[in-house]
Amino acid sequence: MKEKYGPGTTAIHGGHGPYDRGLPTDSVVAPIYPSTTFAFDTVEDHQNSIFGDLVYPMYTRAASGNPTIRILESKLADLYGAEAVLATASGMAAINYTLMHLLNTGDHVVMGRCYRLTHNIAQMILGDKMGVDYTLMLSDDVKDLPKYLRDNTKVLMLDIPSNPMITVYDLEEAVKIAHERGITVVLDETCATPINLRAFDMGVDVIANSLTKYMCGHGDAVGGAIISNANFVQAIRKGLYPRIGAAISPFNAWLIHQGLKTLHLRMPRHNQNAQAMATHLEGHPKVARVYYPGLASHPQHELATRMMSGFGGMMSFVVKGGDEAGTALTNKLKLGKIGTSFGQAETMIETGWMSHYEWSIEDRVRFGIPPGFVRVSVGLEDADDLIADFDQALAQIEIDDTKTILELVGAGELEWKPTVTTME
Ligand SMILES: Cc1ncc(COP(=O)(O)O)c(C=O)c1O
Repeated sequence: MKEKYGPGTTAIHGGHGPYDRGLPTDSVVAPIYPSTTFAFDTVEDHQNSIFGDLVYPMYTRAASGNPTIRILESKLADLYGAEAVLATASGMAAINYTLMHLLNTGDHVVMGRCYRLTHNIAQMILGDKMGVDYTLMLSDDVKDLPKYLRDNTKVLMLDIPSNPMITVYDLEEAVKIAHERGITVVLDETCATPINLRAFDMGVDVIANSLTKYMCGHGDAVGGAIISNANFVQAIRKGLYPRIGAAISPFNAWLIHQGLKTLHLRMPRHNQNAQAMATHLEGHPKVARVYYPGLASHPQHELATRMMSGFGGMMSFVVKGGDEAGTALTNKLKLGKIGTSFGQAETMIETGWMSHYEWSIEDRVRFGIPPGFVRVSVGLEDADDLIADFDQALAQIEIDDTKTILELVGAGELEWKPTVTTME
């Protein structure tokens, strides 16, 4: 898109890729090209598309890509106001490609309270296999960031808001500190989306996130994206991408492309519903704590108000009485579905025990997830119905307040890592 439009117009009309407009009439809904392979008229054309000026698709998993995937990538580039995008098989693939591209043996990466599997990448792939050192930043105040940095730190990776603790980091400050030392800042803003957070305006270098959640919005396609400047994206597109081969399927790219057309309508509703739920639950006598940046009680509320145009659809809370009470409450919900993914129309619930099942209880609490922790991906239903559902579930559970633990084990410590097991 050459013209600058608002996010709604961009979400709907953005995304005409290099292979678009192949027909004399314009198909309003983008076509799906399921073909894995694209044939050339001559051997010379094939060679010319590799070594010369021809820009044609060749193979879906190759740098040349597939037209449907390219259309998704160009819509995303328009939405983010970014130079280039590489769509990947999943959010995990996007994060892996990005970190593996940026880090080499002997380097060091600092991560905030990222998604559990992002820590797994740091430990199992970057650490154990590539010899990259990793530090988990346990402080949520980026003023403490310099304490975690070393001479060989190459990457700072943050999730905003983080899953599942809904932490918000001061991105501008983090970028300033990192850039002064030549460190690349990678952001996973799966939970925020470009509707709630304009991360590139704050100087972030790369966004690596999941398209499976809010971006798609309907829980029917897995995908991910790397968004950055053209040189960075091209280096991965021509480097690790075809070799590791985690390409998104054209059908999933098409579903996500369709879903993106309503992102600007869905996000405000997610924001409103989550705010209503968080406000209600904060006043509930059986709830010990609510984590939502839209609440004045959230430690980064003021920062989030400055930094974000919406607080998102993810909220977490601690029910009094520990994991037993959290499990009982979750099982009693009628509308809220028990499941692991998020960011779709249906409200989805996951307890801390579910999301961090491969960590010991001590590790969970040390990380900041107390017993009784429940994460809610607040969906697009009517807020009153959702609140009534949680109220009826809370009314049915017995609470034993002696089991409520809010203090973090090891609070204030600088360096610690969870023990990773490989149950997945
Ligand atoms: C914050 C965050 N980033 C990335 C991912 C991975 O996304 P995907 O499931 O598309 O691989 C998840 C998955 O839950 C997530 O919560």
